[in-house]
Amino acid sequence: MDAAGKLLIETDAKGHATYDAKKGAYVLGVNVVPAYRWFNGKMTYTLLGDKVDKTHGVISINKIEGGPTDGQSLIWPMKIMQATQPYDPVNRTLVAPHMAGDDATSYGKNFSWEKAIASGMKTSGADFSGKVDFLKTEMYWPLNHMVAPREKTLACADCHASGSRLGGLDGIYMPAYNANRWVDLLGWLMALGTLIGVLLHGSLRFYLTRKG
Ligand code: HEC
Repeated sequence: MDAAGKLLIETDAKGHATYDAKKGAYVLGVNVVPAYRWFNGKMTYTLLGDKVDKTHGVISINKIEGGPTDGQSLIWPMKIMQATQPYDPVNRTLVAPHMAGDDATSYGKNFSWEKAIASGMKTSGADFSGKVDFLKTEMYWPLNHMVAPREKTLACADCHASGSRLGGLDGIYMPAYNANRWVDLLGWLMALGTLIGVLLHGSLRFYLTRKG
């Protein structure tokens, strides 16, 4: 809240919110580079009744399936939504908070997680112990919106460079991104062999011409 007890909203020079009392602090970005992952179109979700264990580290809200060898998967650009969100530490489940609305239990109205979660869970018909704790989560959003226009297509070197945007993606062998010592050596030996062959052939012809 601001000094007058009103909802505090801070904006940057362009008028975009950087802090909103109902939502927290924002870090804004443009032209954000997506993460790239193998994906075969199948996802499994962590559902409201599923047990989650905070000691397992970051909880996946959804798991994407696929890999380089199944003949089904493509390399997809993804947005990885990383969050700190409330959960029920007694039932060990994720929760469905009642976030927005102009009523007594919405989080944006009274800023009480307990009230907002109790109300949301009741509406969802799910069990809530009344206790609230927080854990870290991540969720994959395959990107099929926010695709750049044709004129802004990636250049070769955006991917074909070591440490490029495809960084960490396994199962691919692509020029300038990764290399195999033996393939490189063989390639250079072939190039060198060709050069030597051409030089020998040329010199021989030159010599034989002069000899008539
Ligand atoms: C969005 C990322 C991306 C961009 C942009 C891109 N490439 Fe690739 N390229 C790849 C990937 C991934 C592979 C590896 C495919 C595989 O392993 O089968 C690849 C493979 C290749 C190969 C090897 C093909 C083969 O059969 O082994 C060549 C050559 C190549 N790219 C050239 C280019 C050129 C030239 C451009 C620019 C006009 C370009 N690439 C732009 C991702 C990209």
